[in-house]
Amino acid sequence: MQSTQTQISENNQLSQSIEKEVVFELEGITKIYQMGEVQVHALRGVDLKLYEGELSVLLGPSGSGKSTLLNILGGLDTPTKGSVIYHKVLDDKDEIIDLSAASEHQLTEYRRFNVGFVFQFYNLIPSLTARENVAVVTEIAKAPMTPEQALELVGLGERFDHFPAQLSGGEQQRVAIARAIAKNPDVLLCDEPTGALDSKTGIKVLEALQRVNQELGTTTAVITHNAGIAQMANRVISLSDGQITDIHTNKTLISPKDLSW
Ligand SMILES: Nc1ncnc2c1ncn2[C@@H]1O[C@H](COP(=O)(O)OP(=O)(O)O)[C@@H](O)[C@H]1O
Ligand SMILES: [Mg+2]
Repeated sequence: MQSTQTQISENNQLSQSIEKEVVFELEGITKIYQMGEVQVHALRGVDLKLYEGELSVLLGPSGSGKSTLLNILGGLDTPTKGSVIYHKVLDDKDEIIDLSAASEHQLTEYRRFNVGFVFQFYNLIPSLTARENVAVVTEIAKAPMTPEQALELVGLGERFDHFPAQLSGGEQQRVAIARAIAKNPDVLLCDEPTGALDSKTGIKVLEALQRVNQELGTTTAVITHNAGIAQMANRVISLSDGQITDIHTNKTLISPKDLSW
């Protein structure tokens, strides 16, 4: 009896100390797309927690539900069933948003102030320089860094005044990362950020992401179908056919330059 109570109180303490650091808490997430007569089950009961400051990799084959999951985390899409709780932990005030029940307006605000996105294609404005592409975001943010600071952080200190066409694919993606992090988001969500790059330039992009994660403490989730990338992450969340099949914690992190794929 005594030992059972001790056990329970230890468990409570444990869950409380973890509770503080949970940024996302997903329970029973299902996503069904209706395609005319056909239903596509993109996610089938996903339970997941993501923790403050961690870099996680979502790994899985094409069609396994990675983008759907990331879009739900980013407030770009909502689940058919299940709950998605976002805890804003970096701020003084403890803000909680139920993303699964939020209005369009709340989701827009959530995305604007809390989330940075990086996609496979960089979506830079061709007629603006690197600095101006980043400034587009910093001009409407609450407490941004300067475009120059953001570009320095991703290793583009020498490229402020280059236009996208004057930059390599990897450099353009790093401008896109600078743009995503310049508003100091709590969360950085990246969908196949190296998908269009060869491994050499891809490594530079991953180094930029790891640096942002480590220096700013931004909770970061990176989608990939490339298992080689997984060793740079704190945790690797494997998806298959809309379900999580494995969650692996890496004891030692490998620097992107030592990854091979
Ligand atoms: N907007 C959509 N409408 C219909 N089906 C979709 C849509 N988005 C994704 N799907 C389907 O959901 C499944 C999971 O897709 P997705 O999340 O994009 O996987 P992944 O990113 O792992 O490749 C796939 O079968 C895909 O075709
Ligand atoms: Mg995808």
